[in-house]
Amino acid sequence: MLKKKVEEICNRQVEREGYSSNLYLAMAVWAETNGYPGVADWLYAQAEEEKLHMLKFVKYINERGGKAVIPAMKKPVSEYKSVENLFQEVLKHEEFVTASINEIVALTLEEKDFNTQNFLQWFVTEQVEEEASVRTILDKVRLVGKNNMYQFDKDIMGLRAQATNSPATA
Ligand code: FEO
Repeated sequence: MLKKKVEEICNRQVEREGYSSNLYLAMAVWAETNGYPGVADWLYAQAEEEKLHMLKFVKYINERGGKAVIPAMKKPVSEYKSVENLFQEVLKHEEFVTASINEIVALTLEEKDFNTQNFLQWFVTEQVEEEASVRTILDKVRLVGKNNMYQFDKDIMGLRAQATNSPATA
């Protein structure tokens, strides 16, 4: 049985993963309507992954005798200055999610909830990979500059394929 405190913080993560999914959807819409179909595809796929992350928490809470709460939708930012600006926001958001997962790990250690701590290990690994892949993309965006954005947009699909082949991505 989940302790109330752990259930609450896991439900906070349900909200954050759900928001991540909507945020990436809003970003995908921006990319698709600004002539970056490759970036949009990457973001649509990312939005799907975040939905799966949310579901992992939902199922875990329910399995352990708690009750998952599906939150109201918060409207994500939908305007970006550039592709670089968009990926800076992705990185900032992923760093926020990493900190959030780490807070849950810290609480489970405090509460001696080793089952939840074990469940969270997948997310700890996933966050390292997500941050690394966004940093790789950001480096690439900075290198190509405005002139080669067309090629960058095509290349990003290759980066996506690499990320989906990694073990922590489900
Ligand atoms: Fe589910 Fe990208 O954090």
